Amino acid sequence: MQRRTVVFLWLTIVTGLVSAQDAAPAVTPIPATLGQEAPFPYRWKFPAPSPEELASRRAALAAAVGNGVAITVSAPPPELSSGSRYKPDHDSWYFTGVDSDPCVWVMTAKDGKIDSEKLFLPTFNKSYELWNGRRWCAGPESAAATGIPESKIVALSGGNFGGANSMKPVEDHLRALMTSNPAVWYLEGAEGRAEGGGLSIDTPDRGGMVKKFLRSIAPEKTKIRGLGGLSGKLRSVKSPYEIELIRRAAWITGEGFHDAMRHARPGMWEFEFQGFMERAFTSRGATGVPYYPIAASGPNACILHYTDSRRQMQDGDVVLCDIAAEYGYYAADITRSFPVNGKFTPRQKQVYEAVLAGQEAAAAALKPGASLMSLDAACRDAMIAAGLKSAELHPHGLGHHVGLDVHDPGAMVFTPGMVITIEPGAYIRKESLGIRIEDLYLVTETGAECLSKMIPKTVAEIEALVGSAWRK
Ligand code: GLY
Ligand code: MN
Ligand code: MN
Repeated sequence: MQRRTVVFLWLTIVTGLVSAQDAAPAVTPIPATLGQEAPFPYRWKFPAPSPEELASRRAALAAAVGNGVAITVSAPPPELSSGSRYKPDHDSWYFTGVDSDPCVWVMTAKDGKIDSEKLFLPTFNKSYELWNGRRWCAGPESAAATGIPESKIVALSGGNFGGANSMKPVEDHLRALMTSNPAVWYLEGAEGRAEGGGLSIDTPDRGGMVKKFLRSIAPEKTKIRGLGGLSGKLRSVKSPYEIELIRRAAWITGEGFHDAMRHARPGMWEFEFQGFMERAFTSRGATGVPYYPIAASGPNACILHYTDSRRQMQDGDVVLCDIAAEYGYYAADITRSFPVNGKFTPRQKQVYEAVLAGQEAAAAALKPGASLMSLDAACRDAMIAAGLKSAELHPHGLGHHVGLDVHDPGAMVFTPGMVITIEPGAYIRKESLGIRIEDLYLVTETGAECLSKMIPKTVAEIEALVGSAWRK
């Protein structure tokens, strides 16, 4: 063999070995749109709801109101020292597509159609933007994005850095509506504390403030009701756009589970595991987490809302991990339970497979017309048939709707377009064993689709994945 050929072959083998060792873990490529930032003036860092979709949501609300007025009010900004980013009020976001403060939307409905609407937004303010960045302001860009004509957008004056926007135009509009339109009034967040007599953007309890203000100006016989019942009904059936965002939240969550479970090992701290998942979320464009993460090992898995993440995982532990990503304000909610040493004991396997059988029975029963109660009955029967005692079965609900809120509003009886979790569990304190399996399901015309099916779940899949980053 020629010397040059030998060198070439040797190099090829060495290069092959090195690249096999250095090979990045197999992760799905990140879809280009996941990190995309929409152009100015939008604040969105993810695909936005179209103005047409926003308009159809508002029309659907008018149909639900019939005759009356609906009001949504933006959430106040968090304290700078709270460590939280701004999160819009979900009803305000759902109907307006505006995710900054202040934003008030007032719509009157007549015979189920929109009769009038006004969107109150701040005027552009240079000093505000210098300190805080972009926010939605009165103007043509906001009209184009929300689908509300510019003629119906009212500018709120003031709002220099350190100064509040004036709510006077909102107050005047509501007073005028009260005299001419003494119908049923709906408003966002009807209960709670209220401060002061008028409307102020400095009041943290917006729902309470609006309710108190309306009560002070409305005729005695005017009914003031919370918006939640009506908006919840609309929000519970997801549009294709919303389903796409939930799919992406589930996909990002799946990437986190793959990454974290590959690295899991006895001796790992619960917070380390949580860190693997959160790193995967952030690096794949998640916009946050929709609920406080649960990484609970051994006995901690029997504490349903365990959030300390301060225990070192021991050989022989099962770890219950209920951690998910948020994408575009939409939640995922997914749980996996796995042996930290990569191998279930026969007893752990028996309990795990019983919980999985329960979830599969519930998922098989999920279709339009089914209810959480009927699913739970099917689930419990399957778990008992698989050898669990009723005292060991989940003391919590079997599932819930998921959307803008992790516990989204929604009906008990399912229709196509709803997204729910199915999350049975078995909690056996005296064995320090807690197992929950939670997945996201979209109700379809004929049954259901699991939106988190890419995340390993069978005993064989889990045992192959756990520790695969370090185990020989
Ligand atoms: N992670 C909250 C829940 O499962 O409902
Ligand atoms: Mn859940
Ligand atoms: Mn959960």
